[in-house]
Amino acid sequence: MSEKITAVRGMKDILPTETPLWQFVEKTCQTILKQYAYQEIRFPIVEKTQLFKRSVGEATDIVEKEMYTFEDRNGDSLSLRPEGTAACMRAGIEHGLFYNQIAKLWYYGPLFRHERPQKGRYRQFYQCGVEACGISDPEIDAEVILISARILKGLGLLKQVNLQLNSLGSSEDRAHYRNALINYFKKHPSQLDEDSVRRLDTNPLRILDSKNPDMKALIESAPKLNDYLGDEAKVHFEKLKSILDQAGIAYTVNPTLVRGLDYYSLTVFEWVTDQLGAQGTVCAGGRYDGLIEQLGGKPCPGIGFAMGIERVVALLEDLKLAEDVTAHPDAYIISLCDAADGVMLAEKLRDANPALSIQCGLSNASMKNQLKKADKSSARMALILGEEEIANQTITVKFLREDTPQQSCNFEQLLSLF
Ligand code: HAM
Repeated sequence: MSEKITAVRGMKDILPTETPLWQFVEKTCQTILKQYAYQEIRFPIVEKTQLFKRSVGEATDIVEKEMYTFEDRNGDSLSLRPEGTAACMRAGIEHGLFYNQIAKLWYYGPLFRHERPQKGRYRQFYQCGVEACGISDPEIDAEVILISARILKGLGLLKQVNLQLNSLGSSEDRAHYRNALINYFKKHPSQLDEDSVRRLDTNPLRILDSKNPDMKALIESAPKLNDYLGDEAKVHFEKLKSILDQAGIAYTVNPTLVRGLDYYSLTVFEWVTDQLGAQGTVCAGGRYDGLIEQLGGKPCPGIGFAMGIERVVALLEDLKLAEDVTAHPDAYIISLCDAADGVMLAEKLRDANPALSIQCGLSNASMKNQLKKADKSSARMALILGEEEIANQTITVKFLREDTPQQSCNFEQLLSLF
């Protein structure tokens, strides 16, 4: 026997027992995004590497060590998309979607990051992303956050998660803050770990994200971004908070929330849970007012988020919801003479009632054996076609989940049973 070929590490199969939950999440996202009149956009999985370097940032973990980058046959450097915002903006700029107009977009699909796989962290994972471009007022920040809240509520997960908010200030505010941080950390060189020393020059804000327990005290006493916010950022943040208050959305202001991508300014937010171990961020996003210009478009503000589908599904699994969202066949057909009889009956039923889900047994096994399979399929009833039924043009209906006696009926009577 040849050696088995297995899946790539960190890339997981989503099996038939799991897909009902995935479909439930996808459908909930779609329904709610339609309520807010957002439009779906689809863009390629592969983009030019430069796109992510210029947007996500050269000094971020994603670009520095997590991208699946390769040279294609023309010698161009391409990357599997590690996130959706940059690619979505690239597509929007290329097709004039941001030109003197507001674009409210969403996308769904796989992303790729070469991270160390663990619970809730994969090398191929899925996001539902939302981007609203063309409005700089805090009302749109609120709308985007309200969408995320409504999706989480629609999934029944609002109790499991907590909304964290922060403002990163304008780019000038951040430049002042950056200098203050560099000065502070430079005064404590012996307490910096290797990563932080490197980040001091490239991206000092990322030092605040360090998970190293030895750095905790140093980080806690570091200057706070909050103290460097200018008036514009403060007014924007206050207005956003007041809308969320009005809408009854609870949040915690977390001054250490900085996010791992470089394009953010002003509002950033994350929905976090303590039920998934280390990978507790279920949904995250923020404002990226400079990004479109940075990618060669005319200046245009934007804000969005992406929800990690694996993490959402993991929370739903813990709630044991899978059975509730799994659709079972309405009927399972058992043919005892010619399996083709069953195929024809199933076709006739689907013609007459397109909403029906019919599973054809297609086996020559004994009645007992086929009934077992019908039961295992979780179908509501078994439709039996034996010699007698074929001769009389009837169908024997055996109810598998309810206490109703077996009955013999013609096609019209059968239809009325569903
Ligand atoms: P992000 O924080 O990198 O943001 O990812 C968003 C979410 O995707 C995370 O909160 C998490 O739920 C999920 N996620 C990220 N990496 C993994 C992984 N390796 N395995 C499983 N799930 C993962 C962004 O991607 C931004 N583009 C979000 C955004 C949209 N900001 C503005 N618009």
